[in-house]
Parts: sequence; C-alpha cells; structure tokens
Amino acid sequence: NYYAVIMAGGAGLRLWPLSRENKPKQFLCIDGNRTMLEQTFERIIELVPPERFFVITNSKYSEMTKNVFKNLIPPENILLEPIRKNTAACISYAALWLKHRFGNGNVCFVPADSFVLNKEEYLRSIRQAYTEAEKEAGLVIIGVNPTYPSTGYGYIKITPADSADAIHSFNVLEFKEKPDLATAQTYVESGHYLWNSGMVAGTLDSFTEEINQHLPEHFSMLSSALEEYDTPNYPNKLKQAYSGLPDLSFDNGVLEKSGKQLRSIKGRFDWNDIGSLDALEKVLGLDEANNAVHASFHGIDTRDSIIFSNDHTLITTIGLSNLIIIKTGDVILVCPKDKAQEIKAVVQQLKGTI
Ligand code: GDD
Ligand code: MG
Repeated sequence: NYYAVIMAGGAGLRLWPLSRENKPKQFLCIDGNRTMLEQTFERIIELVPPERFFVITNSKYSEMTKNVFKNLIPPENILLEPIRKNTAACISYAALWLKHRFGNGNVCFVPADSFVLNKEEYLRSIRQAYTEAEKEAGLVIIGVNPTYPSTGYGYIKITPADSADAIHSFNVLEFKEKPDLATAQTYVESGHYLWNSGMVAGTLDSFTEEINQHLPEHFSMLSSALEEYDTPNYPNKLKQAYSGLPDLSFDNGVLEKSGKQLRSIKGRFDWNDIGSLDALEKVLGLDEANNAVHASFHGIDTRDSIIFSNDHTLITTIGLSNLIIIKTGDVILVCPKDKAQEIKAVVQQLKGTI
C-alpha cells in the first residue's frame, strides 16, 4: 500500500513579499493560475489514489487547504498541526499517524514547493523510491544533480560511480543540510554530491524506527498523544505534545544522523524549490534582454533583472541591471539579485507589521 503525504505547512519567508505568513509560497500561483500545492497534487495523484493521499499543514492554513482539496481527497486526510515546529515534527506526526491508523504501508513525503519541469522523470523517481524502500529497512531520499553551489539545499554524498547510475539505489556516505558557500563549492566541484530534492520514502516501520532512534522526544510525545486519538481530549494532547517539541528540520534531526541506514536514488528531472526570489527567473524564463518579467513592464536599457507584479501597475525602468523589483498590493521591494537570500532579515526586522 502506497501513501503520499504533501508537506504544506512551511512559511516560505525568503519569498517575501510574494509569500506572507498568512499566504505562504505553497498557496501562490507563480507560473500561471495553479498554486504550487495544486500542481504538486496534480502530479502525484497519478501514483496514489485519493484515499491514500494526505496533506499535512498548520492549522492556520486549514481553510485554505480545505478549499484546495475539497472533492479531491477525503477531508480527514488533511492533517493539521497546532504549532509550526518544522519538518521533524511534521514528518514524525504524519508517519506515526499513518502507522497508528493503517499499521503498515509505504509512504513518500513530498514538499509542496517544488517547481518541476520533467514530470515523467519525477514520477519515475518517486515510483523507484517506493520500490527501493520496500527492499530493505531504512529511508530512501531522492537526489538530483547539483547545478550550482546553493546554500539552500541539503547535499547527499555518494561515490562517483553511483553518481552516474540512475537505475539503482545507493548508500548515502554523508548527508549535509545547507552547507556554507565555501563548502557547497567544494561539494559541487568534487562531483561526489547530489542535491536533496526534499522527497523521502520508506515503510511506516522504517520511519517509526528512525524517528524512535533519532528523535525519541518526538516519538514518545506524539505517540502518547495518538493513544487518545479517538477521545475529545485529543486536540489538547496534540497541542501539548507540539508545544514541547523543538523547532527542527527532518534533515538536521534525522537525515544527517541516519548514516548507513540512508539510501538515495538519483532523479534526472529539472527541479527548483523557488527558495528565494532570484529563482523566479527559472520559472518565468528570460526575454531577449535577459529579464524575467511577470508584470506590465516597460524598460529602457534594463537587463538581467527580475520584475514581478501581481497587479496591473505599469513598472518602468531606465538604465538598470541585476535588480529584483517586486510589486505586490501593499509592498514594493527593490534589491540587487545577489541579496535575494537576505530577505529573511527584512521579514524578521518588520515582524508583526507585515
Ligand atoms: N506541515 C508542515 N509543518 N510543513 C512544513 C513545515 C511544518 O512545520 N515546515 C516546512 N514545511 C513544508 C514546506 O511548506 C515545504 O513544502 C517543505 O515542508 C520543506 O520545507 P522548507 O522549509 O521549504 O525546507 P527547505 O527548502 O529549506 O529545505 C528542504 O528542502 C530542500 C529542497 O527543496 C530540505 O529538505 C533540503 O535538504 C532540500 O534540499
Ligand atoms: Mg523549500
């Protein structure tokens, strides 16, 4: 039995001002009229029937998520987290919930913020991850070839021979989440690393074993809450459990520590998680002046820039290059392209007012 779980409760702060606390990036339509969450669902529904399709998100996005999935999956397949505690809590809760409810099966966790060009290869990789996960204990992560030294992704160390192999799964020699730039540069140059696409598959037994071993607190608090699943006290118990958990990613909490238990397969799909505003050019494409434009725009002598608006305001520029200009209903952001990763600082400084 195959289950799929979309993780859709992140804040996507680096995409501010497009993404907001009350409308994070998975709920945005960036390339057309479908949100990233809908696009993720539409890709994967080919592999897993609706009754085994789950979405886990924060309770504050409950209404938005229900609107997206009404008539698509059973309403009880939307799992709600009372407090945002990052992906270690999200994956632990969903895995333990599925285990509690169904006993066994094979699950793949998928982020809601992937922009995928080659859908067939993406689906082939997920299918392969399911079958590899059944073969032996341990988790299977889907890697892709790195194309530049990104500091926003996890890196999977494998042997060069494995790196050329897209057919078999291979042991992960080391997993490193979001290295600094110098480290990322040596990784990419070495040819021994893949990027982590953020998709991870395993049997429910493998997930619960890994969580029990590396996240014992998550395991015990969430398991004891689930024991009261059918009682009126459950929401309180769950909230109590969450409030005691650290803010920790699954990558830091489990994948970096899994060691020999962790395997990887290689996907050959083009992929981007639109982790920051500079990635918009990968989604929007470039015009003849190397600009990525989604706006009513007239530029003179304007090159290599990203110009995005979600209304009809005419944006005009003269003599610019390498800038990001974003206009949303209530915010204008202008910054050099190479400062796109620093947007989080603005969001933190303005916290509460935006
Ligand atoms: N339900 C729930 N609860 N979902 C969450 C939470 C949470 O607390 N936090 C994040 N998510 C969701 C996000 O909405 C996204 O779909 C997914 O989980 C991954 O979280 P991100 O916050 O976007 O992680 P990241 O991009 O920094 O890093 C991860 O993804 C990269 C690939 O996109 C890591 O797995 C990296 O190793 C990986 O390279
Ligand atoms: Mg992401």
